[in-house]
Formats: sequence, structure tokens, C-alpha cells
Amino acid sequence: MSDPLSTLLLDVDDLRAVIADVGLDSFMDELITELRVEIGGFDEARVEHQIRAGFNYESAEHGLVEWMPTMVVGDVVSVKTVGYHPANPTARGLPSVLATTALYDTTTGSLTTMCEATLLTALRTGAASAVLTNVLASPGPVTLGVVGCGAQAVTQIHAISRLRPIASIIATDIDNSVATTLEARLPEDIASPEIVDIDEFNARVGELSVVCTCTSVPIGKDPVVDLSLRRQDLHVNAVGADFPGKTELTIEDLHASVVIPDVVEQCLIEGEAQRLDRSELGPSMVDVLSGAAPMLVGEFTVFDSTGWSFEDLLAARLFRSHAVRLSLGTRVSLQRTPVDPYDPYESLRPSSGEVIAELRSSGDLALVRDRA
Ligand SMILES: NC(=O)c1ccc[n+]([C@@H]2O[C@H](COP(=O)([O-])OP(=O)(O)OC[C@H]3O[C@@H](n4cnc5c(N)ncnc54)[C@H](O)[C@@H]3O)[C@@H](O)[C@H]2O)c1
Repeated sequence: MSDPLSTLLLDVDDLRAVIADVGLDSFMDELITELRVEIGGFDEARVEHQIRAGFNYESAEHGLVEWMPTMVVGDVVSVKTVGYHPANPTARGLPSVLATTALYDTTTGSLTTMCEATLLTALRTGAASAVLTNVLASPGPVTLGVVGCGAQAVTQIHAISRLRPIASIIATDIDNSVATTLEARLPEDIASPEIVDIDEFNARVGELSVVCTCTSVPIGKDPVVDLSLRRQDLHVNAVGADFPGKTELTIEDLHASVVIPDVVEQCLIEGEAQRLDRSELGPSMVDVLSGAAPMLVGEFTVFDSTGWSFEDLLAARLFRSHAVRLSLGTRVSLQRTPVDPYDPYESLRPSSGEVIAELRSSGDLALVRDRA
């Protein structure tokens, strides 16, 4: 019997085992449903969240480590810690985004779960765009444009394909070597992306019903795309703007569109919305998914996706529930139930762990406490 204070460690192999069991499409479908239902029914009295905070620095290159907290009242606190180091892929062969999520029990404060969240982040970012796309893009198959062909592009395309048929994809990246490997990274049954340069992309924007921007554009650089030749009903998932001074769209396109922030206060600091006044924002993601917002299909809409800590909690919870069902993960004693909760030195005594483990396995821990 494991110590109730032990932590369930869920690593990359555990997530692979979960997805091998559930199937990648089905796991994405479950996550999409979680986001649609939980965000559509979002209740501020039940879920508290804070905008992310962190450290950013210029050590070698630009980087940041941030923490993203959310609490389901009376149940769980989730804190995702995420690093963003856009030089990682080319300089070190590592992903730009690296993340882990910790779940805490709100009765005891104990760390119940520590899990992989790099893939979970990509999955939930794609799922959020798909949910908004399905509600805001004109009905029928999607003609998709993708600007930035890195890690997030894969899950943007995959998630959208789960809710809408994708008729065609045109994609562009400032680094052609990334663009040309996009197709190999996509699930097999998805339309092959046509790779074009940004000038051709801008010229052909009128062919597109949905655009995803998911670039690692540096702070203060030019917009990554010009949507002025768009259809009037274009829907955009703007995923890459998530830091002050880092944006992807032109101000003209933003002014022409209905901007839908995922987290209003966060978007005003670091999303596309950082260049807008609060009064210029459209309805929030919660308003759109709950049905509180007016119908926007047919309008030029921009989902200002900065990433919501609540989405991370939902993704970690889904991973954990499958992992528990499949008896996956490793229990580690980052915390241990003591005999005497007032004795911080107890765990330093060589025998204490063994005695407690033995009595716990015989179900007699209460007896140890009585003796103490
Ligand atoms: N909204 C969210 O919830 C969320 C979640 C995760 C990541 N992100 C952000 O999404 C962005 C992409 O993340 P990723 O993990 O895919 O990074 P990545 O490094 O894997 O890919 C980014 C790609 O963008 C390309 N790029 C950079 N500047 C460009 C430009 N001007 N035009 C076209 N392509 C350009 C790069 O060459 C690279 O291939 C980052 O800014 C990241 O911070 C947002």
C-alpha cells in the first residue's frame, strides 16, 4: 500500500502508454470535449485562476520560465511551469516549449501528481484553437493556412482536423527546413500541406477560411502575415503572441476583426490584445463557448490564444485519469506520512521509513501513531 502522501510521477513514457491505449485521435477528441464543456460551463465560483507570472531573461538568447496556476475550489491546485526558449531547436536540438505540471490536493496541500506537460501543452493549445474554429469558422470543410510550422503547428492542424474536414493546407515558415518537414510530423490522414513563401501566402490569403499563426517571432519584429486580402469570414487562431512586445498580426487586421481573448487580463499584457484598449476587445473565449456572446459566424474573428492555466489543469487531469486506470506512473516519496507530524527530524532517522512502511503495508499505521 502506498503512502497517501506519495506523489504520482507521470513521465513521457506514461503519456505514450496512455496514448497507445486510447489512440491519439481519441485522446485529442477527449481533450477537445473537456475544453468545450468545461470552458463553456466555466464557473468563477468553482474555478479560480491567475494570469501567469515568471522570469524572463537574455542569457545567451531570449528565454523565460513562467508558472501558470489554477484552482478547482475544494479539490485541486494545478501549477504548470513552462519554459520558452526559441533558440532551443536550432541551437540545442530541443523544443522551444518545455513544461511540467504539478497537481496539489487542497485538503492537505500535498503534491499528488507531477507530470509531463510539453506534449500536453501542444495538445491543449491545438484543442483550444479547434474548439473556437468550430464555433467561429463558416460551416463546412476548412481551407487552412498555417504561419510557423514548428511544434504547435502540428497540433493546430491535427486538432482542427478532428472537428472539421480539412480540404487543403498552405503553410509557410521563415525557416524552410522546418516547413518542409511539417507533412512528416502530421498524422497520416491529413491533407498534405503546400509549402509557400510568405509573399505567396499573403497573396493567397483569400483562398483560406482559417489561419493559424504559431511562430516564434522575436519581440518587436514585424507582423508575420498580412491578412488584407482575406475573405470577410476568415477565422484566425493567433497562437504565438504570448509576451509583451511579441505579436504576429498587423494592427490593421486586428482593428478590422473581432478579437476573442482566451484570458482577458493576460491578453491585454501579452497577447495580440496588448495593442488594443480593453473596450476594443470582443467577447471572451468563455463567452463564445458558453453561448453568451452573439453569433459571430461570417465575421472576421481572431482567437487571441495566450494559453490558459485552466486548460493545463484539464489536460493534466485527463492524462492522470487514464494513467490511474492503466496503473501507470511511479510513486515517489517527496513527502511522507510521519508518525509524529510535529517532528521534522523524524524522517532523518534511518529506521523510521522502514518501520512506517512495514506497518503501513500491514494496515497498522494507526497503531504506530498510538505508540508514538
Ligand atoms: N497560445 C498558447 O497557448 C501557446 C502554447 C504553446 C506555445 N505558444 C507559442 O507558439 C509559438 C510557437 O511555438 P512552437 O512550440 O511551435 O515553437 P517552434 O520553435 O517549434 O516553432 C516556431 C516556428 O516559427 C517559425 N518562425 C519564426 N518567426 C517566423 C516568421 N516571422 N514567419 C514564419 N515563421 C516564423 C520558426 O522558424 C519555427 O519553425 C511560440 O511563440 C510559443 O510561445 C503558444
